[in-house]
Amino acid sequence: MPASIVILTGAGISAESGVATFRDKEGIWSRYDYRQVATPEGFAANPELVHAFYNDRRSQMRNVAPNAAHFALARLEREHPGSVLLVTQNIDDLHEQAGSHNLIHMHGELAKALCAQCGARHEWRTELSTQIACPSCGQAGGLRPDVVWFGEMPYHMERIYEALSSCDLFLSIGTSGSVYPAAQFVDEAGRAGGRTVELNLEPSDNVYNFDEAFHGPATRIVPDYVQRLLAGKL
Ligand code: APR
Repeated sequence: MPASIVILTGAGISAESGVATFRDKEGIWSRYDYRQVATPEGFAANPELVHAFYNDRRSQMRNVAPNAAHFALARLEREHPGSVLLVTQNIDDLHEQAGSHNLIHMHGELAKALCAQCGARHEWRTELSTQIACPSCGQAGGLRPDVVWFGEMPYHMERIYEALSSCDLFLSIGTSGSVYPAAQFVDEAGRAGGRTVELNLEPSDNVYNFDEAFHGPATRIVPDYVQRLLAGKL
C-alpha cells in the first residue's frame, strides 16, 4: 500500500457531472478563443466579455453535482492510512462538494473573485462586472475571477512540487496532459521513484510517460481503482 499519494485531476473528472471539458469535440476551446477570455491581455482588452464567459460558467455550476469519481477520491482521502493530496486543474468546487479536504486548486476557483487593485479575495457565486466595487477597497473595475489565466503562474506550485518529490503513487485523472506545468507532474513523480498511473477516457498526450494506464469513463474506472487500492489489490 503506497504511503503518500498525489492525485492530479482535470476537466474529464467533471465531464459526467455535465461540466464541459476544453479540448474534446464541442469543448470550450472549440467555442471560445482562449486568448480573448482566458488571458490577462484578453481581460485588459475586453473585461466585460471575460466576465460574461465566467458568469456563464458560474451560473452553470449551480446546476451540476459531484459524480462517483469525485466521491471515490474523497473516500480515498478518508480511508487511506497514508497521505492523499488532491491537486486539481479544475475551477469548479465538485471535489469539495464530494468531501475532499486536502485539496489544491492550482488554476484557481470560479467561486472566488480577486481584486486586481487591492489583492483581496472574496467568495463570489453571483455575476461579476466592471461596475461592481470590491467589498474591501471600494474600487470598481478591478474585480476579476480568481482563476489562473494562460501566461500566469499557477497557484501553490512549491507545495505541489514538494509533494511530488516524495510521493509513492501519482494518479492523473481526466486530463489531456497538454498544459504545463501540470503535464510535467508525471515526470516529477517518476523521477522521485513514485509509481505513475493515468486514469482517463482515452490515452492522453503523455500517456507513454506513465507506468500504467486505465481508460474509460471516470465514474467507472476511478471508483474501481480506489476500491482495489484500498483493498490492497494494486
Ligand atoms: N472520464 C474520464 N476522462 C474524460 C471523460 C470522462 N467521462 N471525458 C473526457 N475525459 C478526458 C478527455 O479524454 C481529455 O483527455 O478528459 C481530458 C480533458 O482534457 P482537457 O479538455 O484538455 O482538460 P484539461 O486537461 O483539464 O485542461 C487543462 O487547460 O484550458 C486549460 O485551464 C484549463 O485547467 C485547464 C487546462
